[in-house]
Amino acid sequence: MWWMRPKTDKNRKSDTENRKESKAIYLGLDIGTSGIKGVIIDDQQRMIATAEAPLSISRPQAGWSEQNPADWLTATQQVFERLHAQHGRALAGVRGIGLSGQMHGAVLLDEKDVPLRPCILWNDVRSAAQCVQLEQVAPFRKITGNILMPGFTAPKLAWVRIHEPDIFARVKSVFLPKDYVRLWLTGARGMDMSDASGTGWLDVAARAWSQELLEAAGLPLTGVPPLLEGSAAAGHLRRALQIRWGMTDDVVVAAGGGDNAATACGLGVLDPGVGFISLGTSGVVFAATDSFAPNTRQAVHAFCHAVPNRWHQMGVILSATDSLTWLAGIAQSTPAELSARVPDDVTAPSSVLFLPYLSGERTPHNDAQVRGGFVGLDRAHSAGDLTQAVMEGVAFALADCLAALTGAGTHLPSVYITGGGAQSPAWCRIIANVMNMTLLCCDDAHRGAAFGAARLGMMAAMNVESTSLCTPPEVKQEITPQADLVGAYQERYAQYQAFYPPLAAYGTTDKT
Ligand code: XUL
Repeated sequence: MWWMRPKTDKNRKSDTENRKESKAIYLGLDIGTSGIKGVIIDDQQRMIATAEAPLSISRPQAGWSEQNPADWLTATQQVFERLHAQHGRALAGVRGIGLSGQMHGAVLLDEKDVPLRPCILWNDVRSAAQCVQLEQVAPFRKITGNILMPGFTAPKLAWVRIHEPDIFARVKSVFLPKDYVRLWLTGARGMDMSDASGTGWLDVAARAWSQELLEAAGLPLTGVPPLLEGSAAAGHLRRALQIRWGMTDDVVVAAGGGDNAATACGLGVLDPGVGFISLGTSGVVFAATDSFAPNTRQAVHAFCHAVPNRWHQMGVILSATDSLTWLAGIAQSTPAELSARVPDDVTAPSSVLFLPYLSGERTPHNDAQVRGGFVGLDRAHSAGDLTQAVMEGVAFALADCLAALTGAGTHLPSVYITGGGAQSPAWCRIIANVMNMTLLCCDDAHRGAAFGAARLGMMAAMNVESTSLCTPPEVKQEITPQADLVGAYQERYAQYQAFYPPLAAYGTTDKT
């Protein structure tokens, strides 16, 4: 095939000439849950090109959520092939690649680095019992500064150990999604600190693997990849891929970051006092910290940042836009169609209440059993009313996350808002009113996890740790809380909080 043609001397010469003329270019690749996204930026960090390929989730049982690692490789190739076909010149000039990815997923590899089973994802809650068991045998909370939650990697492996012992016996190493994709892209093994924080095996304060916790998992130190800072070079793009995608230079691939830490790099959220809300499949309230600052009491995630000497806190909810996707699925509609039924300027809270615990919840409840609900349904309620209730329920859950971060000593006067759900003006206004907080909107296309990953790729290729590359975005719009609605939403929020205990009690009763 023509793209496999070896380079001739003539080609090599023109590559050198090209290099002299062209400016360095960087690529960010985000291994998301609903799809893989690639962005190409120039040396001034201007967006040159984007390409995406979708992914689907398999849910073989209630509370389970899996993806086949081979699908990530197929989608990654689709992204590169689209960029090659439509933006071949830009792709040819790429010098550095950074990866970001959905966190926590357990990619179990055999001795030939072949996945042994589908990856158990971040929003899979099957391993709640294993969290309890593991916390009884080793001081997970003390060493990691985090509650061991079913989303994390360690209890997933423990679940496999009990329920699929034949597979467990063949596990040689455990990777996270983006690190598996990078292994395929480069042949190099590595994991960055931010993503490693979500395994449950990292001493987050010391930025080092905990031998004690790995032993509790039945894993040797060689069972996890070597640790790297996200802005460090982890390897180089394999020559065969470089040729196939027409890339002219040696391409450095950075360790990258978990998707939330990478988004923070894209938004310049590196120092205390700044944060963002991510309204993606999951919902996240993120704050940067300059030291390790845990709060296990309210299920705060206290993790390393993707750049050295920085940490961050997150409140995480499992079903943000996923709640709307679910509603759209059963209404045989789409999230965009449903969102269009909610007026941009909502004038009062919906009279129906929604609790978004469709897959259980992390912050602040750490409750894998609880399930969601609509409260106060009436024959008169329309699809628009239910959609507004879903948006509000997600906003209340994010308010719970903010309260948990406040409990960890964080104060955020305003936050950026990002992610697919942030495209909805109604949803953003509802969140500003519920949280009584100003939201900063920027050009989202330029500020997702893939953009932050491209910045990490740039740092690795330039061999700098300079966080000065991570400038904040231009704020296109500030959404301020509306005084007349804040009070009404506070009342609804109190009602929302009052419904968690009965739902939690219902979640633990035997419904068979
Ligand atoms: C964070 C988390 C999610 C995923 C989504 O702890 O589980 O935000 O990273 O991709």
